[in-house]
Amino acid sequence: MELITPRVPQIDWSGGFPRHWNGGDPVATHFFNALSFLFPRGERFFVEQARELGGDDAAVRDFGAQEAIHAHQHAQYNAVLVGQGYENVSDELARRLEARAYRIFAPLTRLAVVCAYEHYTAALGDYILRDRRPLERADPRMQLVWGWHAAEETEHKAVCFDLYRAVGGGWLRRVLVLMLVTMNFSRLFWRLYLDMLRRDGSFSLRKFFPTVAGIAWNVIGPGGVGWPMARAIVRYLNPWFHPWNEDNRAAMQAWLDANAARLRRIRA
Ligand SMILES: [Fe+2]
Ligand SMILES: [Fe+2]
Repeated sequence: MELITPRVPQIDWSGGFPRHWNGGDPVATHFFNALSFLFPRGERFFVEQARELGGDDAAVRDFGAQEAIHAHQHAQYNAVLVGQGYENVSDELARRLEARAYRIFAPLTRLAVVCAYEHYTAALGDYILRDRRPLERADPRMQLVWGWHAAEETEHKAVCFDLYRAVGGGWLRRVLVLMLVTMNFSRLFWRLYLDMLRRDGSFSLRKFFPTVAGIAWNVIGPGGVGWPMARAIVRYLNPWFHPWNEDNRAAMQAWLDANAARLRRIRA
């Protein structure tokens, strides 16, 4: 089993951050902001599912510690966004989807939901760790919070998947659940992302086409996030898929080493 270390990034959120912290570009900024709005509720749900089926496992405990710190950091991040006039317009839908998952899914299926989300966060983390472009022009604090989250999502990427297999989870369930998660997550994300851009006036007559072109560039341009996401889906369909079949520990460790001074380790 991999060693998993919970860390706290040394960020003072009280001073806030610039509205368009990612290179002055609303399209590039709100892509990350929308994800941040979605994290705390999701991460609490993930931890509940993992604890329900693997409560006494050491890796599950450390996974839970990392996700709890992520949720706490992103809650502070999101409070700044609210102060800037943005609103988590997907939260009510997320709450309803969560309630429905508890109503209609067995614990093993809910764990498959977590595996699907963890697969996407790991793919996004890998994208952030390997490709400098998405955060190249970002505020240093935001480079830190996103790099830290990416590194820890990489570090714990197999915990829920290993638990899922250990408690009898199979291929068909995880693949069907990935499709469901992909649809639901797309609804949550795009509603939020477009709303944040709308609040900035990015869809005014003058800015409409540059904004749409910017979104398209960020998703399907060279270096766009759509490519690693599409690849993630294809990889997950493989019956022999395992998160560590793609070993990106070196990229993770390089980032952690370079930023060690700005991270407080909770345990050795
Ligand atoms: Fe996380
Ligand atoms: Fe995670």
